Amino acid sequence: MTDETPKLRAALDGVPTYKPGKPGAASAAGAVSYKLSSNENPYPPLPGVLESAVAASGAFNRYPDMACTGLMAALAERFDVPVTRLATGTGSVGVAQQLLQATAGPGDEVIFAWRSFEAYPIITQISGATAVRVPLTETEEHDLDAMADAITDRTRLIFVCNPNNPTGAAIRRRELERFLDRVPGDVLVVLDEAYREFVRDEDIPDGLELYRDRPNVCVLRTFSKAYGLAGLRVGFAVAHEPVAAALRKTAVPFGVSQIAQDAAVASLASEQELLERVEGLVAERARVSRELVVQGWTVPETQANFVWLRLGARTTDFAAAAERAGVVVRPFPGEGVRVTIGEPEANDLFLQAAAEFRKEPEA
Ligand SMILES: Cc1ncc(COP(=O)(O)O)c(C=O)c1O
Repeated sequence: MTDETPKLRAALDGVPTYKPGKPGAASAAGAVSYKLSSNENPYPPLPGVLESAVAASGAFNRYPDMACTGLMAALAERFDVPVTRLATGTGSVGVAQQLLQATAGPGDEVIFAWRSFEAYPIITQISGATAVRVPLTETEEHDLDAMADAITDRTRLIFVCNPNNPTGAAIRRRELERFLDRVPGDVLVVLDEAYREFVRDEDIPDGLELYRDRPNVCVLRTFSKAYGLAGLRVGFAVAHEPVAAALRKTAVPFGVSQIAQDAAVASLASEQELLERVEGLVAERARVSRELVVQGWTVPETQANFVWLRLGARTTDFAAAAERAGVVVRPFPGEGVRVTIGEPEANDLFLQAAAEFRKEPEA
């Protein structure tokens, strides 16, 4: 045995580890604890979805359909895009990683707002490219002018998270179009719309409208949030042919299991039930936001399935207080907490914890 260890790429030094939302541990005396830390759908699978997943699981001695033929056909029909403009992956974060592999490496730059989805800096650093973080505005929104100003000859990819995780703020049509008009055609803009189904403001554009006549724009969507398939890992991109083809090249072979493919197809077929559930969550979002404002909090307008409270130095204290009350939230120490909209009982517990916390004197 020698003391030598394998040489690992220097790009990995200091890569922050992805922090998943904490699970909802049973709180004191076995009381229920709700997990509001990962922006998941709190409801069980839609009708027919569990059945297709179970049926597919009977054949998991076989590899899945590598081309995701059934899912691609269903997506093409549902979103009115040719199959040649679609690519699937292991969650939309898997597709985001493929996009980086396809566009950027050492010496290249990747721009995103900060704070935004925490996977962006991780996957950027792993690619070897340099992350360029552009601070959000005071109102927790993308600063699109500053992002456009940050573009250089080395920029290869720009993530635009709409609505933004974790602040919930969304970008309006005119602003986004103006930004896209400023981005050179050889820079890929990824419109990450993981929370699109929760958007209710008609002025927030659907990326699928914007990408059509812009070859450098690609849209990322997921089955993890509104569709409730977070545990199955399936997401997709809609992009012009060269980008979609590059995504097929960078995909992990057989990355999307047959269970995930079949469950996703069944979810698309249960659109009506899906919409009803999403509508319920949107109504809860309005109730939670309203009550927080009544309690005296400043709550950025959210178009996603979570709310954001900027708490600064009191962030971890708030998260601990919420946990004692039976709700696990997602703290970003020193910045704020993101709280997923869950079932009404969970939201009630969170609101109670928030009200109690306001009464506590600041340390
Ligand atoms: C903005 C955004 N994009 C992508 C993802 C990744 O979702 P998934 O990989 O489960 O599709 C998330 C998950 O939290 C997200 O918030």
